[in-house]
Amino acid sequence: MRISNFLGVPALLFLLPAFAQDQMPAVGGMTDRPMPVADTRQIIPLTAAETAMVMAEMRQMLASVQGITDGLSRNDMKSVAEAASSSGPSMMMGLPAQIRMKFPEQFKQMGMATHKVFEQIAREASMKDPGPVLEQLSSAMQNCIACHATYRFAPPD
Ligand code: HEC
Repeated sequence: MRISNFLGVPALLFLLPAFAQDQMPAVGGMTDRPMPVADTRQIIPLTAAETAMVMAEMRQMLASVQGITDGLSRNDMKSVAEAASSSGPSMMMGLPAQIRMKFPEQFKQMGMATHKVFEQIAREASMKDPGPVLEQLSSAMQNCIACHATYRFAPPD
């Protein structure tokens, strides 16, 4: 017992700095920055003009999310419904067919599912019950997260 304690303490002291060193990144002087992570998202090739159209719709969806939460915070269900209805399915259907045909099937499905949730929020909001609205908003935002993690746009080569 006595001997193993006696040997154990210095051994531990010797190991500590080695352990601490393992935590350091290999690149010197960059400890405050995250290491670059490989971008494994699938590329959907769109021209700059096409991307601009889709991005405008994305920003509109973000504005709808804000409008919905703002309306909920003021218990103003009319503005919740208004904010939601501007991101309904007509948004995606309004995109030129030449853009929509470039979307992979799964992208189209996730996009349409998201627009349909906004449509549903517009309907639920008129029932004056915030509970289901928050639930729907959360499920719409799971689509935002899933799609953003899977795809990105880039100009065709
Ligand atoms: C079907 C796929 C899909 C869904 C669903 C989706 N997005 Fe996006 N979104 C994208 C892609 C792809 C980009 C571009 C990412 C890139 O190229 O780096 C993007 C970009 C954006 C941007 C950046 C716009 C800009 O001008 O740079 C915003 C904001 C955004 N999305 C908001 C949302 C919100 C909010 C939701 C959910 C309510 C949502 N998106 C749902 C695919 C999606």
